Amino acid sequence: MNEEIYLDNSATTPIDPRVMEEMARVALQIYGNPSSLHRKGREGERVLTTSRKVLADFLGVRDSEIIFTSGGTESNNLAILGIARRYLRRGKHLITTAIEHPSVLQPFQLLEKEGFEVTYLTPDSRGVIAPQDLLKALKPETIFVSIMHVNNEVGSIQPIQEISGILKREKPEIIFHVDAVQSFGKVTLPPGLQGIDALSISAHKLHGPKGTGALYLKSGIMIEPLLLGGGHERGLRAGTENTPGIAGMALAARYSFVEINKKAAQLRQMKKQFISDLQTRHPWIRINGPGVDEKESAPHIVNISFPGLKGEIIVHALEEQGIYASTGSACHSNSKGESHVLQAMKLGRAEMEGAVRFSFSARTTQEEITRAVQRINEVISGLKQLTEKMAGV
Ligand SMILES: Cc1ncc(COP(=O)(O)O)c(C=O)c1O
Repeated sequence: MNEEIYLDNSATTPIDPRVMEEMARVALQIYGNPSSLHRKGREGERVLTTSRKVLADFLGVRDSEIIFTSGGTESNNLAILGIARRYLRRGKHLITTAIEHPSVLQPFQLLEKEGFEVTYLTPDSRGVIAPQDLLKALKPETIFVSIMHVNNEVGSIQPIQEISGILKREKPEIIFHVDAVQSFGKVTLPPGLQGIDALSISAHKLHGPKGTGALYLKSGIMIEPLLLGGGHERGLRAGTENTPGIAGMALAARYSFVEINKKAAQLRQMKKQFISDLQTRHPWIRINGPGVDEKESAPHIVNISFPGLKGEIIVHALEEQGIYASTGSACHSNSKGESHVLQAMKLGRAEMEGAVRFSFSARTTQEEITRAVQRINEVISGLKQLTEKMAGV
């Protein structure tokens, strides 16, 4: 068996051992309930205060604007359902995009059942939303817009700064939420989150623990809580806080920010090399998403269509060679198993069926990329030959 090369970092990342150690320390030693009045409780509370400050500083926002959650899914659900329901008297029109993660799309679908009207903006063929389309979609009764920063399947960076600029100019009372699960610690966010009212992050995409995340909620924005109970997180998210996970998330964010500052340029260079080496050997493949030199291209996600082959078969054949990748995203939204993102980008059937996502982390090395390309090239040549033989070509 070949040595493993993990290229599925957008699905999740391996936890950093230093983060794991810190989580074990907090779980074993700082076990007090942060809501308890005694010293043990105050120790737990201190973990929350420190971690909240770390995240707030990275985002350039106030500590009091961070709500801890169980991950990106909960942060998105809380922002979308919580804000739309809280402000429904102002209007019932909402805007999002057709390429969001299911944890955004499904809350919007639920809101449609509750009587809201939702406009789903469609991207161009690169998977990028045009700010002008948002402008055209605005109505007098629009109250809320949610647009992701980096798309998890194709790595397209959405023009969130232009979009927030349009919103603030045209209708400043509209609340703007950004799903930054794939960008936090990887792609620069607007300084101080200017123009953004709510933003979701998740720890397990940055070598932190699974099941831990946060929602930034700008002060003054109100929200209808989803979880009711003991008044934790200013009454916005009940439930005893996951102190080990929260401490782990803050530490993981610290390491990620240092690493990405050092490695962003190198990561983009590796993506470039990865694509060009595969294309040289297999000129018939198609790269989905913005070109690697375009400003809309995130440095850590590559989506490639191998038309004529099946993505699932490629993923399993690569696994045999120790390479871990995925077919688009871990969850597909339609019953045929096709990606709603690639569909919105208007890819043909063969291109959708043959799509594979490779995703890197700041810890992916140059050497891993070089070795991965060799193995991927061989796997693809083998599968292509086999397919052609079976088709009698
Ligand atoms: C863009 C995006 N949003 C939200 C999520 C959900 O985050 P979590 O796994 O922390 O619930 C993911 C996870 O893949 C994602 O890629």
